[in-house]
Amino acid sequence: MNNLINIAIDGHSSCGKSTISKAICKKYKMIYIDTGSMYRAVTLFCLENNCISESFFDISKLLNLIDKCHVNFIYDRIDDSSKTFLNGRNVEDEIRSIRVSKFVSQIAKVPQIRKKLVDYQRNMGVDKNIVMDGRDIGSFVFPNAEIKFFVTADVLDRAKRRFLQLSINNDSISFDEVLENIKKRDQSDSTRSINPLIRAEDAILIDTTNVSIESQNKTIFKIINTYLANENRNR
Ligand code: DC
Repeated sequence: MNNLINIAIDGHSSCGKSTISKAICKKYKMIYIDTGSMYRAVTLFCLENNCISESFFDISKLLNLIDKCHVNFIYDRIDDSSKTFLNGRNVEDEIRSIRVSKFVSQIAKVPQIRKKLVDYQRNMGVDKNIVMDGRDIGSFVFPNAEIKFFVTADVLDRAKRRFLQLSINNDSISFDEVLENIKKRDQSDSTRSINPLIRAEDAILIDTTNVSIESQNKTIFKIINTYLANENRNR
């Protein structure tokens, strides 16, 4: 049976949003949608089509090509997760690289790109039962989501986690570079004029600094259980 709710999870880069989202989906049999991977896939598309580099950003070229950029997700039964596809190609690993991370905030500022991806995201949530993570989900994509979390953690803690992930993927990068990238993205994501990262008024704050995954899940499950119990009582 579907849960007739959507859950919005927003927050800073690398603070554990996807870990929380996946745990919720597993427990409540909901569908996970990682909107950051959509912006990352569009960024990879831009890089591969020479729309952006360290020295230029050709927005009109990007907008001319954007109809040729198709992002979708395919569930992978082998590791029980969904993979991001760009024009039919599995780009799940490539979009997590530091090369993509360096440019993604610039791409995420382009209003036409945001509109295209937000329409897609809203469409995915019409039948409910989804957990969507990003920056503007509770504030803009699904302002009426039944439950909203805003996740954060100390920036050093976040950089350590990200550095570890990138090392596992053999991305050769220094800790300082990772830290710098996270700080820059936080700054850009929070201050952009269109749909910036903000905590929706009704979002529950979750700080994952020095908190184990078990304990963080326990807190979150308790909140969801309370919501679902109240819902059932009011039916
Ligand atoms: O969640 P992430 O770190 O993979 O997201 C990558 C970038 O995409 C992030 O720096 C900002 C952007 N983003 C956004 O602007 N809006 C979203 N809903 C999700 C991500």
